[in-house]
Amino acid sequence: MAEETAKTAVLLEERRLFHPPKELVENSNVMQWMKKKGFKTEKEMREWCSKNYVEFWDEMAKTYADWFEPYKQVLDWKPPYAKWFVGGKVNMAYNAVDRHAKSWRRNKVAYIGVGEPLGDVRKFTYGDLYREVNKFANGLKSLGVEKGDRVSIYMPMIPELPIAMLACAKIGAIHSVVFSGFSSKAYADRVIDAESKISITVDGFWRRGKIVELKKQADEAIQDAPTVKHQIVYKRTGQDIPWNKDRDIWWHDLVKDQPAECETEQLDPEHRLFILYTSGTTGKPKGIEHAHGGYCVGVPQTLHWVFDLKEDDVWWCTADIGWITGHSYIVYGPLSLGATSIIYEGSPDYPDFGRWWSIIEEFGVNVLYTAPTAIRMFMRAGEQWPAKYNMKCLRLLGTVGEPINPEAWVWYRKNIGRDELQIMDTWWQTETGTFIGSPLPITPLKPGSCTFALPGYSMDVWDEAGKPVPPGEGGNIVILEPYPSMLRDFYKDPDRYFRTYWETYWNVRAGTYLAGDKGRRDEDGYFWIQGRIDDVIKVAGHRIGNSEVESAAVSHPKVAEAAVIGKPDPVKGEVIIVFAILREGVQESEELKKDIAKHIRETLGPVAMPEAVYFVKDVPKTRSGKIMRRVIRAKAMGQPVGDISTLANPEAVDAIPKIV
Ligand code: PRX
Repeated sequence: MAEETAKTAVLLEERRLFHPPKELVENSNVMQWMKKKGFKTEKEMREWCSKNYVEFWDEMAKTYADWFEPYKQVLDWKPPYAKWFVGGKVNMAYNAVDRHAKSWRRNKVAYIGVGEPLGDVRKFTYGDLYREVNKFANGLKSLGVEKGDRVSIYMPMIPELPIAMLACAKIGAIHSVVFSGFSSKAYADRVIDAESKISITVDGFWRRGKIVELKKQADEAIQDAPTVKHQIVYKRTGQDIPWNKDRDIWWHDLVKDQPAECETEQLDPEHRLFILYTSGTTGKPKGIEHAHGGYCVGVPQTLHWVFDLKEDDVWWCTADIGWITGHSYIVYGPLSLGATSIIYEGSPDYPDFGRWWSIIEEFGVNVLYTAPTAIRMFMRAGEQWPAKYNMKCLRLLGTVGEPINPEAWVWYRKNIGRDELQIMDTWWQTETGTFIGSPLPITPLKPGSCTFALPGYSMDVWDEAGKPVPPGEGGNIVILEPYPSMLRDFYKDPDRYFRTYWETYWNVRAGTYLAGDKGRRDEDGYFWIQGRIDDVIKVAGHRIGNSEVESAAVSHPKVAEAAVIGKPDPVKGEVIIVFAILREGVQESEELKKDIAKHIRETLGPVAMPEAVYFVKDVPKTRSGKIMRRVIRAKAMGQPVGDISTLANPEAVDAIPKIV
């Protein structure tokens, strides 16, 4: 029922078109390029760029990146592996910091670091950033870090996090940032998998007025990680912390005597810039690899075109740097463009629901990029909060992370965007590195649609057999051609890389990327993303695998088996529901439900806290033993379960309670 209503709502909204104001179109970065090239319409421009993508990216590579040595070949595409800008030499940190520090921008503010405590503001110019990055890079070298080594970073939203990342990039080390909202167990798994030499963390950070003691969590994690030789600790909150003098070193002691100059490694464009772990269908997170060359080109170009950044703009992407959105659009994209960005440490509702809007007013934020879940939270808190602040400075808005319901879209435009501003609904993934499906400032918008594939990218909707589906019909979102910022591989797991993205359509058209989302196009060619096809839940935009939560649940001593589903939620998009089968002889109780939820939270981190735990005697499975989450979800949501005759235990379906 709920889904039916949602579908009807989308169909109704679809007819509304929000045209961009003339002034925005005329002054947009993309329009300047179109005029130079002689394109008359957006459609013609998008199509030409996507069809002639090698030529297009060649031009973009020369526009957006500086190369130590020019490349000889734009693309070497041997599906499923692409090599971009072959023969060149490049470095992302050079493009993000060095080149600006050596220009007039050295006194321009790169980051405004807004701490959660009121009044705690630290500004870093490009010159400051250059010195800090160099000192820290020298510090890393002094600890024996070399090109190709992995460095794990477990830090909150403070400017030292990008400094640590850039220092790694500068010397060719590969960073693996782990979201500070993940548990120590999650950090341990990722440090061990990456075989990192170094862990970088903080004593603590502020969250809703309290200190989160991150160093303690980091300590717990690395005690099981034999490859970690040193841990660098930035002093943020100043409370007493446990200290291992053979291993731990304060950030300020490490950089104290380091020179403010450090040579930037001239790297092959395919040299890995970072690994970022993300959830997939199995319990083990996969390490997505991204490369220097592709990032130097794709990330600034998409930011410049979609969010139309101008030299004087203040940009605020509210994501956490621990996720891809922060990597691309707080760190590498805006820095590469020489932009000024906000980094905010704290919670959006602390000390009250006006905090974000006060930051926008105080620092004159011009472009805001956030997530549907945050918008829905603010909707709930009430429009009186944004109404208190003067946000005339805003000129463009954006959203990412999950499908945005038209109601939230319209609220965002009305209450944050004065009923005037365009909203860039960007569809993309950890794997893609950049926006893929997205409006431009010149695009007429439909609330809830990410509109079209960006210039240089090709998207389609295919059926299971690999045929493009007609307008209006649902199917799998695919990406047809390679692009510079695409993932390069899974760290140490190329087989899984192939199986996950490429195998499905390999025999139909090798090199077609299965995105893992379902969606459709409408009669006007607009894309509508409808959510994941695989077993991935989006909780407040965070990507969590059903099977990760299931493994966490069964690691509780009283749980024998578990099935996990995502239940639609008006604020968070989805919430986690656990169906647990208890071990023989264990008594059911409300206490035990709470204890299982707490155990999952402790195992994976606060992001994975289940909304509810239900006890069941059995869960439906296929004959090969695979848990049928789709069937469980349908039954729990009170929807038709479809044909269950092939299940090994169809009677288990009856035992699943209806939870809505
Ligand atoms: O399901 C899509 C959803 O987020 C998934 C990617 O998650 P992650 O790798 O964590 O990256 C999130 C930030 C890029 C996608 O497969 N998603 C992301 N953006 C949108 C979206 N769904 C609908 N509309 C979007 N704009």
